[in-house]
Amino acid sequence: MRELFFLTLANNLPRLKIFDRVRFVVYRMAGLSIKGKCTIWGPLTIRPIGGCKNIEIGKGSFINTEIRFGVPKDKVIIGANVQIGPRVMFETVNHGLRYIPGKGRGGWTKPIIVEDEVWIGGGSIITQGVTVGRGAVVAAGAVVTKDVEPNTIVGGVPAKFIRNIESDADA
Ligand SMILES: CC(C)(COP(=O)(O)OP(=O)(O)OC[C@H]1O[C@@H](n2cnc3c(N)ncnc32)[C@H](O)[C@@H]1OP(=O)(O)O)[C@@H](O)C(=O)NCCC(=O)NCCS
Repeated sequence: MRELFFLTLANNLPRLKIFDRVRFVVYRMAGLSIKGKCTIWGPLTIRPIGGCKNIEIGKGSFINTEIRFGVPKDKVIIGANVQIGPRVMFETVNHGLRYIPGKGRGGWTKPIIVEDEVWIGGGSIITQGVTVGRGAVVAAGAVVTKDVEPNTIVGGVPAKFIRNIESDADA
């Protein structure tokens, strides 16, 4: 009940600067583990009910609009000073490829880790078991199925290495 109430409240706070500053507090009350002050525009889609406790967000991170977390069991851990673009999906669940009559496809979960200072571009999908290394950039629209090395840019479907982020010239 608590998760339902506070998640609904946070997702429906008016889109005003004053609420942008405090919305993370209401998401915390819904059960997300939020380590410090951060900005969450919302709304967040969190599935299944009870999934809020499986989400951690570090201090100083910015979460744009319409982010989805599929978190029935394993966690999505987002570090500090991370930027998440609009409509990013974190999916900790995978299914078997073969449909077995009477049984379906089955399913299993693995955690997702996004290390500090990562930027994930809009519309990206991060799949089960992936770690995005510190300072990496995920280009808009990527489907990330493998770990991303720190300080690299990846993009595409499935996401591939684009280049290293090396110097001040990249600022
Ligand atoms: C990845 C990004 C940061 C640009 O990085 P960059 O290195 O400065 O980009 P460049 O334009 O020099 O492109 C480098 C290469 O990456 C490719 N690339 C750029 N964006 C890409 C994308 N979204 N998907 C796949 N490949 C992409 C380019 O085609 C280019 O490939 P090439 O070398 O074979 O020609 C930018 O394209 C991006 O995706 N930004 C996210 C924007 C966003 O989501 N904003 C929402 C607000 S958070």
